[in-house]
Amino acid sequence: MPAFDDSDFGCQTPLSPVKSRDSYHLQRVSSRSNNLPVGSHGSTISIPVDGPGHAIEVPATRSSISDAQQYMHSLSLSPSMRDRRGSRNSFGTSLPIPRSKRQSRLSSVHYPEGKNGRPGMPPIQPSRDILAAQLQDLSGEKVRAAKDMAFVFDIDGVLVHGDRLIPEGKRVLEILNGDNELGIKIPHIFLTNGSGKPEHARVDQLSKILRNPISTDQFIQSHTPMRALSEYYKTVLVVGGEGYKCREVAEHYGFEDIVVPNDILAWDPTIAPYRVFTDAERATSRPRDFSKTNIDAIMVFSDSRDYATDMQIIMDLLRSENGRLGTVAKDPESQRIPIYFSQGDMLCPTEHPIPRMSQGTFRIGLEAMYKSLTGSDLERVVYGKPELATYKYADEVITSWMEQIHNDEKLPANVYMIGDNPASDIVGGNMYGWNTCLVRTGVFQGGENDEENPASFGVFKNVLDAVQTAIKKELGQDFHFKFDETINPVLHGNGVSAIE
Ligand code: G3P
Ligand code: MG
Repeated sequence: MPAFDDSDFGCQTPLSPVKSRDSYHLQRVSSRSNNLPVGSHGSTISIPVDGPGHAIEVPATRSSISDAQQYMHSLSLSPSMRDRRGSRNSFGTSLPIPRSKRQSRLSSVHYPEGKNGRPGMPPIQPSRDILAAQLQDLSGEKVRAAKDMAFVFDIDGVLVHGDRLIPEGKRVLEILNGDNELGIKIPHIFLTNGSGKPEHARVDQLSKILRNPISTDQFIQSHTPMRALSEYYKTVLVVGGEGYKCREVAEHYGFEDIVVPNDILAWDPTIAPYRVFTDAERATSRPRDFSKTNIDAIMVFSDSRDYATDMQIIMDLLRSENGRLGTVAKDPESQRIPIYFSQGDMLCPTEHPIPRMSQGTFRIGLEAMYKSLTGSDLERVVYGKPELATYKYADEVITSWMEQIHNDEKLPANVYMIGDNPASDIVGGNMYGWNTCLVRTGVFQGGENDEENPASFGVFKNVLDAVQTAIKKELGQDFHFKFDETINPVLHGNGVSAIE
């Protein structure tokens, strides 16, 4: 049973009220030329309206308030002296996600060797297609079942380890892209908490590692749904990632005015007293007079490469008057700008033997700092697995992908999430009502199943084991994972084929 109600998944209909602890709501950028203090909270903010907008609002499934409390002793200055009225930043009540269909028209399939072709399929082989179509015509029930299931793959620890292929991952994609007894494409998308580069670049890299075509239209990384936020905020601080790659991501998402920490350091290096700011960094940054700029929101897109600098700048902005550097708000809650994180993983496996800290720990640190400096809890919004918004967006992407590969815009009934992390992939999939498969090639190193978040469909030694078991359940135990190009379709099923 899904732990979410159907109503939790519903979009906010235009002009319907957004539930909130107070009267403040997200506001779309209605006109880019009106110089509105977009995202600021100085007046009643209207409910997002449809029309030119392409975002869907998904309710947050966990508190937007800081998690720091449980990790803290008495760090706050004097919280009891503060008037703890409700924050005016109620943005945490919903996480906008983009509607995927408008993007599917911009389909971009990436091939391992740059060949052109069809979405989700190897290079064109007309005779093979004709044979597959004939076989499918004769196997109506199996075809229906193949189109009524879908796989959602976590990436790191399931298909690859960083830049290293997990061999079963390549084979799985070959099967799903048509190397099966029907020559049929079995729908699948990729859902990762990875981040830090534009989708097309990441998909290109993955296609090469996995030696299979992957489209940006079947790919979701942690910050992909944050594209929707470009409709709400004009000037944003983008934090994290290598060099200026996350600026590029934000540009790609349509954010109008993007600031990164280096732009601020180039304006005033004293803001981060321990940072050695190089000439090369200065030359590539875009300084301006930030004492005259209001930053409307903070977007942590990827892991910080310099905690000290990033935390200092973020804290300065959170404590400022409506995102104006050089100011300190009299009331930090009412004048605070919103902050968004692309995912909440505490730890991330890397080449180092002990997992390294990730965005979740960075966020907890910020929450503790904010609480200790202001006495208030920090409201924040977190995207990524296992947040509801990310799974809801995945449904949009699966449906749209179905249209592309089978000309049938529907959500398959039997969705299988395959992941290695019980705390993100599995708990999120379980709550969303998907079948969940836990593999032993990544984070999970436990026994029969994870004790806290057991996978509903089971634990498997690797992704190939999981996929084959799921397909056999849906399409029959005798289903073959090889396309036989020599088969006579008319005699198919009469033992003529040597496929196994
Ligand atoms: O936590 C960051 C990233 O490495 C997780 O990737 O694909 O396992 O969600 P993934
Ligand atoms: Mg993983």
